[in-house]
Amino acid sequence: MSALLSGNAWVNPFLGVLQAAQVALGGVAHVFGFAGDSHGQPAWPWPKRLAVEILLIDAGVARQLALALAATGGALLLAIAGLFWRKLRLALFAAAVLAAWFAPWPDTSLWLADAVPTSFQTTPFSVEAVARGALHYARDCAACHGDTGRGDGPRAASLVRWPPTVVGPLLGHRLDGELFWRVQHGMHARDGAPTMPAFASRLSDADTWAILDYLKVLAAGGGVRDGDGWPVPVALPVLDVRCGDAPAEPLARWRAGQRVRAVAIDASAPPPLEDPRWQTLLLSRDGALPPPSEAARWGASGKASCVAVTPGAWDAFAGIAGIEAQRFAGSQLIADRDGWLRAEAKPGDPAWADATLLCAAGGGRGERVTRGRADSLTSLLLRIDAEPVRYVKGGYVH
Ligand code: HEC
Repeated sequence: MSALLSGNAWVNPFLGVLQAAQVALGGVAHVFGFAGDSHGQPAWPWPKRLAVEILLIDAGVARQLALALAATGGALLLAIAGLFWRKLRLALFAAAVLAAWFAPWPDTSLWLADAVPTSFQTTPFSVEAVARGALHYARDCAACHGDTGRGDGPRAASLVRWPPTVVGPLLGHRLDGELFWRVQHGMHARDGAPTMPAFASRLSDADTWAILDYLKVLAAGGGVRDGDGWPVPVALPVLDVRCGDAPAEPLARWRAGQRVRAVAIDASAPPPLEDPRWQTLLLSRDGALPPPSEAARWGASGKASCVAVTPGAWDAFAGIAGIEAQRFAGSQLIADRDGWLRAEAKPGDPAWADATLLCAAGGGRGERVTRGRADSLTSLLLRIDAEPVRYVKGGYVH
């Protein structure tokens, strides 16, 4: 994240432009029919792609690439000028050749990565997918990858290669679309021997994406349990919200760019009062949604009355928070205005006096913040606003 870039403030926007250009190029190729579809979405037509995720870590290579692009662009301009400017044509052409010749292109292995047709595909992170993904994960993946995703399933020791843990930076280092491809088509060692089985015949595209969403929950929850915070930023999952007796609507429309505080309620942890600093999203146990009339009564008394109605929301948020579902009541999570989950408070801490910043853009993760200060929540919110998540997911600069 941004700490990697201190002193190289231009790198992030530069890589953002590169990334946008590469995605746009893929889109253009698709529109003009050079690239067909793969797994129901536009395919990436080339065997390579820009490895923006590597460039982000190595600012030196990024700088060299920027210079090489500038030199090549300059060469092109000089050559075009030479076409029109007769008198100086020879000199301009010579300069163009020199600029192109000396463009300091870094070794291609440093900035190009192998691509697959699904490289740039993604699907939205949703509660529904997390719930479905959990079932498929238990059936198809846990034997090797372990119930908690740490690569310690009962079959792991008997494999040629040890399955990696997802509780760490792995998911952040990979494009979602490339993880999807590997799960569907399997993985192989250099000598061609299979290391991880292919699941194309067992799992539909949608179920494969769903498992990848569940892996994000395993990664987040595992990171919290280890005391390290979330290894990769986690977005508010897609779900439906019902306020009082109004019809349910999608979270994104209801949130309308506001911060969200998610609060897990039950008989012992009643809904909190509404607060203008955020939208309060109530989570209640599966199947135990308060009837609309009760929620409407809360609204009338100034209490929060908007409830997540998508089944599985409780488990998904508890999983992300790294708390067992049975002990989740009373917990709270805060999402920033961009929709990234950022901080968590344990049950019985309404003032966020002992909150944990689980996703700190400045690099520190799993930090305890503002312990015991009266204005702890305000300073937490200010800090979250001041340090937006610039998330780089396998090359996506947000
Ligand atoms: C038979 C054991 C086995 C099963 C079952 C299995 N995996 Fe794997 N998985 C592996 C091994 C081994 C690797 C490491 C392969 C390698 O690096 O070549 C791996 C690697 C991965 C990776 C990392 C890919 C990367 O880019 O590094 C992901 C993600 C993954 N598996 C997801 C899944 C999912 C999802 C399922 C269930 C649908 C699953 N695996 C089922 C053994 C297994």
